[in-house]
Amino acid sequence: MNPNGKVALVTGAGRRVGRSLALALGDAGARVAVHYGRSEQEANETASLIESMGSQAITVQADLEHPEQVKQLAADVLNNLGPIEILVNNASIFDKVGMNDLQSDEWDRHFAINVRAPFLLAQVMKHQLTGDTPGKIISLNDWRTARPTRFAYGITKTALSGLTRTLALAMAPNVQSNEIALGAILPPVDISLNRPRNEININLGPADRMGTLNEVADAMMMLIKNDFITGETINVDGGRHIQ
Ligand SMILES: NC(=O)c1ccc[n+]([C@@H]2O[C@H](COP(=O)([O-])OP(=O)(O)OC[C@H]3O[C@@H](n4cnc5c(N)ncnc54)[C@H](OP(=O)(O)O)[C@@H]3O)[C@@H](O)[C@H]2O)c1
Repeated sequence: MNPNGKVALVTGAGRRVGRSLALALGDAGARVAVHYGRSEQEANETASLIESMGSQAITVQADLEHPEQVKQLAADVLNNLGPIEILVNNASIFDKVGMNDLQSDEWDRHFAINVRAPFLLAQVMKHQLTGDTPGKIISLNDWRTARPTRFAYGITKTALSGLTRTLALAMAPNVQSNEIALGAILPPVDISLNRPRNEININLGPADRMGTLNEVADAMMMLIKNDFITGETINVDGGRHIQ
């Protein structure tokens, strides 16, 4: 697929990784729906940056915890830009709650945002893409999904891998569904890295550095351009998953 002129929805695109993916799509000529939950100002800035590149952009607000808002998000993209051809499931929550303290509402919230919303968006996308119109789904995952200290996050990211592969079958042959499993790219918002490197206990893997936003965007663009990769996980983690 050539992303030029295609309609792309990036969830959680106001800031951080999502913003850089939206900008890469805008730079490639895609017409980008910049979704946000709370970061309205940052989403407007992302959209302005895309427009300054000469590409079309809109912002759309939705709380992904609520299915009706997820469906409204997809409808808003359809009404303003057209059927979603590229879906980037970037938005996610990452709460630091271990097994002992995890309550069922927190479990449900992780599943709603991290798994159900990507599923509902894919389902609507399937309805929106008529005939053999091509499409791409790219979901952002994590190099490590068994995480006792972020218990629900890890479980939902494991489920997201299952969703990625199941969508690759359910939406074949015109839609390819893949995921990018990230290593350390940006520190989580609840962790400060404002300390000397030797005081930070993070194993960065063989690459021994954090990844860059451009390296993530490059992997996304490769998956968009290559139509023969589907159901795949691309680790963008400096080799951390093999250590
Ligand atoms: N950063 C890393 O190094 C790293 C490492 C491994 C995996 N990943 C994965 O890569 C993706 C992006 O990472 P990130 O660190 O940039 O993510 P993040 O900052 O933790 O979250 C991205 C966005 O998700 C949105 N979001 C969360 N809950 C929402 C809700 N209920 N409704 C609507 N939007 C909601 C937020 O949008 P608003 O701000 O607009 O509310 C937020 O800006 C995630 O899927 C993450 O799991 C990242």
